[in-house]
Amino acid sequence: MKLVELKERIQNIIIDIDGAVAVLTMNRPKALNALNGDTLGEIVTIMDCIAQDDSIQGVIITAEGKGFIAGADISEFAPLDTMGGRLRAELGQKACTAIEKLEKPVIAAVNGYALGGGNEVAMACDIRIASTKAVFGQPEVNLGIMPCFGGTQRLTRLVGYGIAKELIFTARQVKADEALSIGLVNKVVEPEELLPAAKEMMATILSKAPKAIAMCKVAINRGKEMDLDDALELERDVTGLLFSTADAKEGIAAFMEKRPAVFTGK
Ligand code: COA
Repeated sequence: MKLVELKERIQNIIIDIDGAVAVLTMNRPKALNALNGDTLGEIVTIMDCIAQDDSIQGVIITAEGKGFIAGADISEFAPLDTMGGRLRAELGQKACTAIEKLEKPVIAAVNGYALGGGNEVAMACDIRIASTKAVFGQPEVNLGIMPCFGGTQRLTRLVGYGIAKELIFTARQVKADEALSIGLVNKVVEPEELLPAAKEMMATILSKAPKAIAMCKVAINRGKEMDLDDALELERDVTGLLFSTADAKEGIAAFMEKRPAVFTGK
């Protein structure tokens, strides 16, 4: 199914298609876009659809107002028992992993509160651009629970053990400038510049060979879970695959002929 056909079936996320870019705007403003079960399921459905839709080459995830995503929807937590809590964690992890494993670039354009599951969604994206109004944090210990949509793992991999433990243990909220200084975000811009900056960066990425970007994402994401020898072997293997693509032949020929490359995604 094409993403355009999915639009009407999705309740909590607005899907805009801007050329080859899907702009996903979280849309539960009354709860600051807190992730209820339905919204997590919708993220999985959208990512599955985009994976199959050749007309979509990149994704931007954003929201409007003071909330990017204020975490998992706490109003659904009270009835959860042991298995219920585990299943909710599994669903949240599934949504974040669907974003991370999509073999197309995903940029989070973080406009406001990115707390708990919101920070976890942002961290599952490839690149994070924050507005000066963005706020990040993992406040779960305030509730007697813990980050469970991948936060204990992805935050640690992004900012290191010490800072990850400090932020998770204290539940301290971090503003955009500090998020930049610890490597949690790539760039900070004024609120009105947020979407334009995300679109500009995406346009730069999409001007490159799509399969090369996809294989870079695979090598970086899978490689960080491997020892160096295995990761380097993966790097060699996916490099070999790229050499057989039409875009690699075109890119190399264009360089030799001193002309701009015209990539087709093949
Ligand atoms: N789950 C469910 N509802 C949430 C929510 C969440 N994670 N975060 C915010 N909301 C709801 C609030 O209950 C409130 O609803 P109401 O207007 O019906 O009372 C609405 O969103 C606005 O939030 P409010 O707390 O009034 O806004 P604020 O500007 O005073 O505070 C936050 C903003 C983000 C600091 C605060 O809402 C908050 O701490 N949220 C929870 C964050 C969290 O712990 N996330 C991790 C969950 S595991």
